[in-house]
Amino acid sequence: MPTSAFIHTTSGLTIEKGSVTWESPSNIALVKYWGKKENQIPANPSISFTLSNCKTITTLYYKKLSSPSDEFQFEVYLEGKKQDDFKPKINTFFKRIEQYVPFIKEFEYKIETSNTFPHSSGIASSASGMSALALCIMSIEKELNPSLTDANFTKKASFLARLGSGSACRSLEGDLVCWGMHKEIKGTSDLFGVKYPYEVHKNFKNYQDTILLVDKGEKQVSSTVGHNLMHNHPYAENRFQQAHDNLSKLIDVFKSGDLKSFIEIVESEALTLHAMMMTSLPYFILMKPNTLEIINKIWSFRETSGLHLCFTLDAGANVHLLYPENEKLEVLDFINSQLVGYCQNGHYICDSIGFGAKLISK
Ligand code: PMV
Repeated sequence: MPTSAFIHTTSGLTIEKGSVTWESPSNIALVKYWGKKENQIPANPSISFTLSNCKTITTLYYKKLSSPSDEFQFEVYLEGKKQDDFKPKINTFFKRIEQYVPFIKEFEYKIETSNTFPHSSGIASSASGMSALALCIMSIEKELNPSLTDANFTKKASFLARLGSGSACRSLEGDLVCWGMHKEIKGTSDLFGVKYPYEVHKNFKNYQDTILLVDKGEKQVSSTVGHNLMHNHPYAENRFQQAHDNLSKLIDVFKSGDLKSFIEIVESEALTLHAMMMTSLPYFILMKPNTLEIINKIWSFRETSGLHLCFTLDAGANVHLLYPENEKLEVLDFINSQLVGYCQNGHYICDSIGFGAKLISK
């Protein structure tokens, strides 16, 4: 599909003002996206569980300007407080999407946003935040072009969200979303996320994700810097191939419900992501001593209990614990007795896989 297919065509309808609210969840990658080409095209395909409780709620107020402006006209509020430091990222997002939604310069905006998770939790809000904002913009497009189908609405929202933050394009639907072309997965594209189209065993239904907040500080390495480290990285080509291979293996795993293989793939992906950062120039270690303590505890718990708890990591020190729903009681017991001491202020967030974004009001 060419990107030109996403350019808005005018219907002749006009709007004076309005508002729309969307909520959109975060997601956690099983096969990681790390490395990109120009225009936010991923260097390898990825797949994620959409989350349910960790989400961003965004209201976009829009009002027609008397004449289109040269600059994007908007104000941003986080939890009711004006947040000027969000403006450069949103401005870049608007610049990237303008050619696909040229009407955006005809309005001025107030963006009101809030997260269900604390802003200073070390949980990136870019996936949920950018997908929620992309959906709000798409609601204006739908008002201008009512014939837009739901399927095309979601596809274009994912396409736009990707231009804000790559992983955001995997937050619109659930419960498993792929992004990036993969030869064995029908419908996959580098331009937008798609729902995983094949059979998924009941073992993965309502899978749990408990996020241990090891370090609530700002990210040490921004994603943009991180992705760029994969250019001229000595292991880049092997890593990109490995992501393709891991996705192929996951197709069988999702079908058979083989949790042992699932764990192996997911933990290997997390450690590879960090290995890429440790072996780039400049190099980074984003894990903290407590991240490693937790990983070792998980491994010995798994050994002694025979349960299927595993971990994954984002580009930071926090640990996502993934486990099947029917092991929840034992795992929560283990977290409270053995892991909570490694979390900053004893904080962790319980989440589970979810089904994507929701329109709250229009
Ligand atoms: O969407 P970005 O540019 O913030 O990159 C996200 C990268 C990882 O979270 C580390 C992996 C992923 O696939 O979500």
